[in-house]
Amino acid sequence: LPHAGFDAKFLNNQPNNIPSEYIWPDEDKPSTDIKELQVPILDISRFLSGQNNHVAASQAARLVSEAAKLHGFFLVTNHGVHEGIVAHAYKCMGTFFDLQASEKQKAKRKWGEISGYADSFAGRFYSELPWKETLTFRFSAEEKLKNGTETVQDYVSKTMGDGNEEFGTVFQAYSEAMNTLSLNIIEFLGMSLGIERSYMREFYQDNDSILRLNYYPPCKQPNHTLGTGPHTDPTSLTILYQDHVGGLQVFVENQWRSIAPMPRSFVVNIGDTFMALTNGRYKSCLHRAVVNSERERMSLAFFLCPQMDKVVKPPMELQEVSGQRLYPNFTWSMFLEFTQKHYRSDKNT
Ligand code: SIN
Ligand code: FE2
Repeated sequence: LPHAGFDAKFLNNQPNNIPSEYIWPDEDKPSTDIKELQVPILDISRFLSGQNNHVAASQAARLVSEAAKLHGFFLVTNHGVHEGIVAHAYKCMGTFFDLQASEKQKAKRKWGEISGYADSFAGRFYSELPWKETLTFRFSAEEKLKNGTETVQDYVSKTMGDGNEEFGTVFQAYSEAMNTLSLNIIEFLGMSLGIERSYMREFYQDNDSILRLNYYPPCKQPNHTLGTGPHTDPTSLTILYQDHVGGLQVFVENQWRSIAPMPRSFVVNIGDTFMALTNGRYKSCLHRAVVNSERERMSLAFFLCPQMDKVVKPPMELQEVSGQRLYPNFTWSMFLEFTQKHYRSDKNT
């Protein structure tokens, strides 16, 4: 191809079909006839205001707990994240993905690293490429205390240099807001499991998390490709902001179902690490993102992860109920290394 990087406009303007690398096998091709999945809506302000013994709050805990046992997806509203922060991050991500390919390549993600810009062109030797571009940052909740930990701002200024400071500031602020929210949600989930209220918050207080921005350009053959292939999140808890376009789908009871965008809310889902920490009580479920021929779509995913060397082991209360352990002890750094070797990150993330 006579261009550098993934250029959706160029690919859409070719006389023929999209390149075969982007064509997924028939069993993965998205159907146009997808039903919506109804998920609980958690109004977290009730919980945060200390009304957790309130009937409504315990009812919310029950509903979320049911969903978490089945598929692990729910929505959160009244989350306390300032709308301006979300709007600013959303606007900046649009600006970033609109940059010339050569500018974006300055932040290029290196092999085996988490942070950086990636387009599916980077994995062109594989079949089944995702129709998207991503920009990923590491976020450490402890960074002010740790020496040598890179902030989002450090990463942006190191790779993209002058003129791009705004990206660093905005995505750092957004990550901090997501960190606060994810700790509130994880505390709520702990409570819904009936374990000591402070347990989960303390477990995740110092964390080595990840922020990923997803950009899905329109595609002239949306029914042949995927924006993000089917996967479970290896991380603990994902807080996703999806814009008004829609495209997120979850595999529940043998069917793909969509999660409709809801203004001023975030989609929350449970990842593999939290499933292990709950001894399998709460599920990490297969999901994907589809694209469409009309509109670009953007989403921002914050992945809460434990601190790298923290041992993931269910609290006693969750071991006793079932009487057995479903997963061995592991650390996030071990699991991360495993996913980088064995998960098809070029295909899905
Ligand atoms: C999305 O963009 O809606 C989800 C992407 C993902 O799960 O990785
Ligand atoms: Fe995901």
